[in-house]
Amino acid sequence: MGYALAAAARDAGAKVTLISGPVVIPAPERVNCLRVESARDMLDCALAQLSSCDIFVAAAAVADYRPMTAAHQKIKKSADSMELTLVKNPDVVATVAAHEQRPFTVGFAAETQDVDIYARDKLVRKNLDMIIANDVSGTDIGFNSDQNAVTVFWAENQQSFAQMSKQALARELVELIAHRYQQSKAPSIS
Ligand code: C5P
Repeated sequence: MGYALAAAARDAGAKVTLISGPVVIPAPERVNCLRVESARDMLDCALAQLSSCDIFVAAAAVADYRPMTAAHQKIKKSADSMELTLVKNPDVVATVAAHEQRPFTVGFAAETQDVDIYARDKLVRKNLDMIIANDVSGTDIGFNSDQNAVTVFWAENQQSFAQMSKQALARELVELIAHRYQQSKAPSIS
C-alpha cells in the first residue's frame, strides 16, 4: 500500500520520498527511494527528512519489538530451549507526530477486530491527523493482496472505501489526504 501511495502522490504532483524496508517490489519511478533495514534506521531517516516534509504517511508495518542482542556468527545448538529477549522499537509515526517540525501526519491501523475503536484510539494516542484502518482478519485484502478496503478516520469524521485495487485506492486516499491537508492550513473562522 505504501508503494501504491508513493506512486499516486507522485502522479498528483507531489515530490515524494519513499523510506522503505526490505521488499521485493521495485521502487516507483521518479520517487526518491531510501532503503532502511531496521525500525531505528527508519526513524533516523524519517527525522532527517522532516525539514522538507509537508505530509508524512506511515504505511510501513514496523516491528514493535526487536531482539535485544544479535549474533554475528551462527548460534550453535546446545540447550534444549532458548530464550529470546525482545526490546521495544521506537514508534516512528508517533515520534514524527510529536516533533516540533511536525508535518501533517497520517498513520495506518491494521486490525482484526473492533477496527474503528482501535483505529480511533491510535489516532489520538499517536497524535495523528488521519488514520487509515483496514481489517486484516480475512486473506483477500490487505497484506499479500493487490486489493484493499479501508476506513479513514479524522477528528469527528470518517470515510469508507469499498474493496478495490491498491492503485485505485491509493489515488482516492491521496485526494482525501490532500483535501484534509489543505483544510488544516486554511485559517479558521472564529
Ligand atoms: O500500533 P500499530 O503498529 O498498530 O500502529 C500502526 C501505525 O504505526 C502505522 O502507521 C505504522 O507505520 C506505525 N508504526 C511505527 N513504528 C512502529 C510501529 C508502528 O511508525 N514501531
